[in-house]
This record gives sequence, C-alpha cells and structure tokens, in this order.
Amino acid sequence: METADIETDLSLFKYDNLEQLPEAYRGLSEEERRDRTEAAKDELGDDLVILGHNYQRREIVEHADFIGDSYQLSVEAAEADAEYVVFGGVTFMAESADIITDDDQTVILPSMEASCPMAGMAEALQVDAAWAEITEAAPDANIVPITYMNSYADLKAFCAEQGGAVCTSSNADKVFEWAFEQGDKVLFLPDKHLGENTAHRLGMADSIAEWDPWDPEGKDAEEVAESDIILWDGYCQVHERFRADHIEQVREEYDDANVIVHPECRREVVEAADVAGSTATICQTVEDADPGETWAIGTEIHLTNHLQRWHPEVNVVPLCGDACMDCNAMRQIDPNYLTWVLEELVAGRERNVIEVAPQEAELADVAMQRMLEI
Ligand code: 13P
Ligand code: SF4
Repeated sequence: METADIETDLSLFKYDNLEQLPEAYRGLSEEERRDRTEAAKDELGDDLVILGHNYQRREIVEHADFIGDSYQLSVEAAEADAEYVVFGGVTFMAESADIITDDDQTVILPSMEASCPMAGMAEALQVDAAWAEITEAAPDANIVPITYMNSYADLKAFCAEQGGAVCTSSNADKVFEWAFEQGDKVLFLPDKHLGENTAHRLGMADSIAEWDPWDPEGKDAEEVAESDIILWDGYCQVHERFRADHIEQVREEYDDANVIVHPECRREVVEAADVAGSTATICQTVEDADPGETWAIGTEIHLTNHLQRWHPEVNVVPLCGDACMDCNAMRQIDPNYLTWVLEELVAGRERNVIEVAPQEAELADVAMQRMLEI
C-alpha cells in the first residue's frame, strides 16, 4: 500500500482571537497532563461538560463526557446544562454548540486553529452572489438551500433566511426530503460528495448540477437552474483521498473484508463500499460486528485507531493503509491545550471562547432547530 506523502494545509482561521499555548504547558509528560486534566475536571464538576468528536486524538476523547458524530454532539450541546461546554472538535462544531446552548453557557474550543478547510470553501459572500445569479435564472422555482453542518454560522443564518436548514451526514437524506416538500430545488453546500451521494440515495442522480464558485467557466446559472439538485463544489481532502481501487486492494488482501466509508467520499467509493454512513454509523457497525470479522474503514485515521482499541475482537483496518490521513484541523486540539483551558477555568479565566454574533446566532439557530425537528 502507498504511504502518506502529502501534507496539505488548507486551514482558514475563522477567529482572530488566537491564544497561543503558554510555555509552561508545552513540555508536560503524558502522565502529568492526564492527572492535571482530570484534577481540573473534578474541580469544575457539574459546571463542565467535555464533548469529543470521533476524530479527536485518544488523549482528548479519553477525557470527554460524550464522544460522537456531529449530530449527536449537537444534541448533547442542546441538552447540556453545564456552564462551560469545552469542545474537542473544530470551529464549526463549537460555533454550532454556542448557537444551540443558552446565552449563559460558554463554549470553549481549546485551540482556535482547528478550522475545517471544507467549511472555509463556502464563504457567505460567495454564496450570496451565487444565490442571486441562480435565483434570477430560475425566477419561478422555489430553491431551498441546505448547508452541511460543516459550515460557518453566517452560512447557516443565510439558509434560515432563505427557508432552508442544516443537515449532517447522518440525516442528509431526511433533510433533502423535507426540502423537496418545501420547494422544488435544493442548493446544497459545501460538500459536493455528500450531496451527490444523498441524491443517489433518493434516486435523484439524473438531475444534479455543480456550481464551482472559483471557475468562471464552471458555473452557468441558466444551466444549473435546470437541475433539481445544485451542488456547491466543496470537498474534504481527508475523504477525497479514498479511491475505488483501495477497496479492490483491501478485498484482495483480506478474505471476506467488509468496507464502510463516510459519505464525504467520492461517489465511486461509496458505490463500491458495503456500507456508507456518518462517524456514528461507522462506530455502531463495528460495535455490532461479530468477532473475527474484518472491517476496512474509509474515514479519518484517528477514528480507525479508536475502533481498533475499542474493539480488539474485530479486525479493523484502515482502507488505504498508511495513506489514510488525519484531519489537520482536528489535530490542532492538542491535549496540552485541553489541560490549559481547564486549569484556566479553575482559576476563573475563560480562554478561547467561541461566541457567534447574536443576530447571526439567532438566525443560524432557526436552521439548526429545523434540522433537529426533522
Ligand atoms: P460526522 O458528522 O459523520 O461526525 O462527520 C463530521 C466530519 O467532519 C466528517 O469529516
Ligand atoms: Fe473538515 Fe474533513 Fe476534517 Fe471533517 S475530516 S473536519 S470535513 S477537513
């Protein structure tokens, strides 16, 4: 199998109140860091909840009160009544938690550098311009915008204003169905692969068009307006890496290998896999597997590593071997940062607070609540 040789860095920092880790926290041993993190957690007690996305490092998820996919964590955030919600995840997840929690709760992202490159691929200004062009080209159509959770609050607010909603990888088909009850076309942002895979699940693959905001030749409003589903040309670099021939190779290497991939993978990969689903579905599938079964996992490498640790009775293998990537945004949540923000809270200081502007938060909440109610 190939080895990982590409180190991409597409991070777009959303927040500029970037606070660097103090020198004293840089050289902690794993044992000291773990003990201090747990001591700070004990001290904060019910005032604190730590949410950890499935892609976070082992040293983060082992301290989390809840581990899950984007949808589950948004539900946990909505239900949390702790004063502090510390989010092991990326900026758009912490923003969504801030939107969905009460005003007197504070959401903290241990490192502000954890920005998902895909979320940065659909800027609200770009989307406004595209919306104006597409709606002008289809004046009689009722287009419903849906944004993937992996987007910033201003885009969620835009979708709410235009009658749309948010979805995650675990409910995209349901939200699309809802959208087609509200209108007759969907503009889906920013992940074209999740959009295409959802269109296939709904049997609508013959009416898809792509909108490439960066290529003047790649967008023809008249043409795209003829399709029922218009896909923004965004993608996740971690999931685009998987190819159908990785599936062939893994099936050659392991007898009876089962393959599960995330729906952010390309269409041909999802088509060739046995199962496609959110990170929660991936976890559940491995949990339900019989001892001795082989499952090849097509998603971010930390989750594959967790599944190997959590289910030693199952043969869990990464779908493209050493070439499987970690997410460079998720990786920014260094465990030393977690210790630091917790000890600062114990000392009465709030670091790296994620606070969405109130007007934007109010609107984005409408789009999030629509999703939670669907
Ligand atoms: P899930 O919603 O499946 O957890 O995925 C989030 C994500 O960022 C995938 O790249
Ligand atoms: Fe974003 Fe991809 Fe990382 Fe998920 S894995 S947070 S979509 S860059």
